[in-house]
Amino acid sequence: MEAPSFSSFEFDTNRPLQTQLQHQLTQWICSGRLPPGTRLPSSRRLAAELSISRNTVTIVLEQLKSEGFLQSIQGKGVYVAADLPQNINRPSTVHWHNRGGLPELSAFGQTLNKTPLLEHSEILPFTPGIPDLSSFPHKTWLQIQRRHQDRINLMGYDGNQGYEPLRESLAEYLKLSRGVLCKPAQIIITQGAQQAISLCAQLLLNEGDSVLVENPGYMGARKAFLARRAKLISCPMNDNGVDIDAMQRDHIIAQTSPKLMYVTPTHQYPLGGILTASQRLKLLDWAATHNTWLIEDDYDSEFHYFHKPIAALQGMAEQTPVIYMGSFSKTLYPALRLGYLVVPEALVKVFVQGKSFMGGESPLLTQAVVADFINEGHFVRHLRKMRLLYQAKWQHLNHLLNHQLKKPVRPIQQSAGMHLAIEIPGVDDQKLKQNLQQKGFGSSALSSYYNDQPTKTGLVLGFANTTRYQREAGIEALKSLL
Ligand SMILES: Cc1ncc(COP(=O)(O)O)c(C=O)c1O
Repeated sequence: MEAPSFSSFEFDTNRPLQTQLQHQLTQWICSGRLPPGTRLPSSRRLAAELSISRNTVTIVLEQLKSEGFLQSIQGKGVYVAADLPQNINRPSTVHWHNRGGLPELSAFGQTLNKTPLLEHSEILPFTPGIPDLSSFPHKTWLQIQRRHQDRINLMGYDGNQGYEPLRESLAEYLKLSRGVLCKPAQIIITQGAQQAISLCAQLLLNEGDSVLVENPGYMGARKAFLARRAKLISCPMNDNGVDIDAMQRDHIIAQTSPKLMYVTPTHQYPLGGILTASQRLKLLDWAATHNTWLIEDDYDSEFHYFHKPIAALQGMAEQTPVIYMGSFSKTLYPALRLGYLVVPEALVKVFVQGKSFMGGESPLLTQAVVADFINEGHFVRHLRKMRLLYQAKWQHLNHLLNHQLKKPVRPIQQSAGMHLAIEIPGVDDQKLKQNLQQKGFGSSALSSYYNDQPTKTGLVLGFANTTRYQREAGIEALKSLL
């Protein structure tokens, strides 16, 4: 079969002729305009027909031959390859709008597909979880980074456990500042606390296992447990956080046999309760007696304002079933994607193996910078500075909330952290959050932190990334909306 005329080929001056000719010829072959077995004109004739150089045509024909679209037959010329599929001109199409036309998703994929995608909202003043980014010591950071950035051994793959010097400096920091009992070999560097929680869910839970979670609590943890198809059981709560006495009194443990419990004992997320020493000891005792893993998420405990940060649960006794996790998202900044796990020695191997399957090592250069940042004392200095800054912001916000807003709107006060939860009884807090967003302020709806029917409505306001003026304007905006 002879080829049709190529005179409808069009060339523009913005791209190389070679690329354009190759693209148009391939399209004609794939669309069936040049069916398998079609004989192409000689390179000389094709060049003359298209008014381009013969050299360009020859290069393109050679390329298409090497890709298998064309073939030369000795003494006869160049043909569209005879072994291309006959139906290449009518490839089956997938109806993307009709999910039935696609191969099936996994059960997990199907569940996710039915869940609305959490929109990534822009960072606004009061968006929870964002530190004061303008106070980050960029100069010091860059000086350290410059020292490391051309080190060849930071350019390859990281071991799955994380950069050893960082694990060493973290072990020292966690021992001195958080009372965590650990050796560097028990630390696993993760891509933020979220990867740490997902690893725990993957490695400690089977489908259908019961998991005790704080209610209200951290959505990221709930998601990781649900992804593992675990059954979420809400812990009874009091002003300090989980209520161990109520748990025992209500026979929750006997009825559910939980495999794991996720807690934020140093600063309950999002309400801010702090477990007392006796409650902590009871919790540890309870976990050991019932053979239940305790996941201690120590996400922002560096920021306590009127007393020293409360020591971690993990270090209160030896040989406890506690898996401790922390994050640099609040102490440095979230985009670093650096977190860490401290696991009992017996679990190190399985966690390192597990992480190797999940991928997601943190960049070595970043880990090296953080290690020096800690070793040279910048980290502790930065935390000290941020603690004072956040304390002043916390006091100012509390003052505004107490003086500007009428009862029964009230802050659920605890002198810690980077956010404040305020209770606003009976309000549609999702709507309120949206309205506040339209006025340029971030927040989260308190009701969205509940597993089930919310018992409190209100807002969670992150104050660390606000200026004085923004706090005043934000509370004024909230007042006008209430
Ligand atoms: C309770 C809690 N845990 C952990 C994190 C941190 O997660 P990541 O380290 O993945 O940023 C957050 C962040 O907002 C949090 O609120």
